[in-house]
Amino acid sequence: MDPILKTKEEISYMQEAGRILHNCHKLIEQRLAPGVTTRDMDELVEEFLAKNGATPEQKGYKGYPYATCASINEVVCHGFPSERELAEGDVVTIDMVVNKDGWLADSAWTYGIGEQRRTIRKLMKRTEKALHRAIAQAVPGNTLGDIGNAIERSARLYRYGIVKPLIGHGIGQYIHEPPNVLPYGKRGTGQMLTEGMVITIEPIFTKGSSGVVVWDEDGWTVRTVDGSWGVQYEHTIAITSNGPRILTDGT
Ligand code: MF3
Ligand code: CO
Repeated sequence: MDPILKTKEEISYMQEAGRILHNCHKLIEQRLAPGVTTRDMDELVEEFLAKNGATPEQKGYKGYPYATCASINEVVCHGFPSERELAEGDVVTIDMVVNKDGWLADSAWTYGIGEQRRTIRKLMKRTEKALHRAIAQAVPGNTLGDIGNAIERSARLYRYGIVKPLIGHGIGQYIHEPPNVLPYGKRGTGQMLTEGMVITIEPIFTKGSSGVVVWDEDGWTVRTVDGSWGVQYEHTIAITSNGPRILTDGT
């Protein structure tokens, strides 16, 4: 399926959703501390969005019950916000999609509670770096394979596992539009990137060698089989003739 290309004006609407989303992340970053729960954070996001005339697009999406996904430690994706108190050393990935006037933005970020073990700190830094290396490939004339390859090469360099079933996607007035944006691939292969495409790039790396995951009985919570922790960094990116435009970093 062909991507739904966006005009400059539509991209600026998405940037507005992205700005609100970025402010949610800033708020969460300030509030997260030992003893706080991810349910507290979910409520905080709901209130903040309401005040800003925006809505949480994930809530009700395919029956997903919350505004945010909150994935702690060995849960790598789509965890439910819960009453579990966060503890020193934990990592939590908060993922959300903001709807402002019908246009969406999607961004996930992993936060450390207090101090992390050195190996986890490195995992976080390097996964964020992998995201930025992949974003640098998001220019007209490159391909989806160039983006996937940048992620795959970063993981290989540090011998991290890539969580392969969870992938990026086109986004606009719908959370999931074509194309799929795989976190692995060969340079120069796959669909060509063109001006007006808007996609998410969202690598999840684990310290496990395999990055193999399973779904809980709730149908959502994704955790590693070997119990290794995972982290994720995700931005929404517009492909423009001036290069990649990150819509969710507050710029
Ligand atoms: N934010 C997710 C992504 O990065 C998609 C949300 S799935 C939901 O692709 F069900 F939680 F909404
Ligand atoms: Co997301």
